[in-house]
Amino acid sequence: MSRSILITGANGALGLSIADYFLSREAECRVFLGVRERRDKAAELAARFPGRADLVTLEVTSPDAWKAAITEIEAKAGSLGVLVNNAGLHEDALLANMTHGQWSSVLDGNLNAVFHGCQAVLPGMMRQRQGRIVNISSLSALTSPAGQTNYAAAKAGVVGLTQSLAKESARMGITVNAVCPGYIEGGLPADWTPEHLKALKMQLPMRRFARPAEIAAAVFFLASPDASYITGSTLKIDGGLL
Ligand SMILES: NC(=O)c1ccc[n+]([C@@H]2O[C@H](COP(=O)([O-])OP(=O)(O)OC[C@H]3O[C@@H](n4cnc5c(N)ncnc54)[C@H](OP(=O)(O)O)[C@@H]3O)[C@@H](O)[C@H]2O)c1
Repeated sequence: MSRSILITGANGALGLSIADYFLSREAECRVFLGVRERRDKAAELAARFPGRADLVTLEVTSPDAWKAAITEIEAKAGSLGVLVNNAGLHEDALLANMTHGQWSSVLDGNLNAVFHGCQAVLPGMMRQRQGRIVNISSLSALTSPAGQTNYAAAKAGVVGLTQSLAKESARMGITVNAVCPGYIEGGLPADWTPEHLKALKMQLPMRRFARPAEIAAAVFFLASPDASYITGSTLKIDGGLL
């Protein structure tokens, strides 16, 4: 089966790994790597799969950017088969000190972006009466750590959106699921010290962070024909932390 897949935030640690996973395991698929300013790593990956991977400029908070990206993808590859809403950001602060800017940029980049993305791809998926949407939430949606009121609210919102949309779109052959990763190697803040990382690992039952491919594998499964009866689900992937 030949299908096209759009992964947002595809220059980041997890987005790259998800793109690589699809390209390496599904010979027929064509992957569109959603990028913003930074695009070096996505371009390297695309160069390894000539003719099967394209970079597409996509600022996920902008409905107009979504419209342009979907028009470009449909012109090149027909209707989109899979959307992975992966782009995201966090700006941690205690609520008492949190600026309105920190609150709204995190809500916008993690939650409103998923709304815009789903709305942009649904018409095409409804026309073809099939489609797969996988939303990357976070363990923070389920554990709500201190210092992350903005991020925890946004990612919990993604879980709620996923469950509601799954009910709305199931009869049209579209599945919508969420994945909640714990700590991922390569995707942690650069200013965390080795001592802090070591102490963090000691709190994890597996004593290690997730490899990005261990999250990508679950996304790939949820987008596969084998997952045809799974919709509205939230899969935590945290090495047993919660
Ligand atoms: N890392 C973890 O431990 C962890 C744990 C749980 C959940 N997650 C979630 O997993 C997803 C991927 O995270 P990651 O670890 O791969 O982070 P990352 O390396 O920082 O990558 C995030 C990507 O999202 C893009 N992005 C952010 N805001 C965007 C916007 N408004 N429009 C377009 N692109 C935007 C970034 O683009 P630029 O390169 O242009 O900035 C970057 O490519 C996120 O949703 C994150 O919340 C991560």
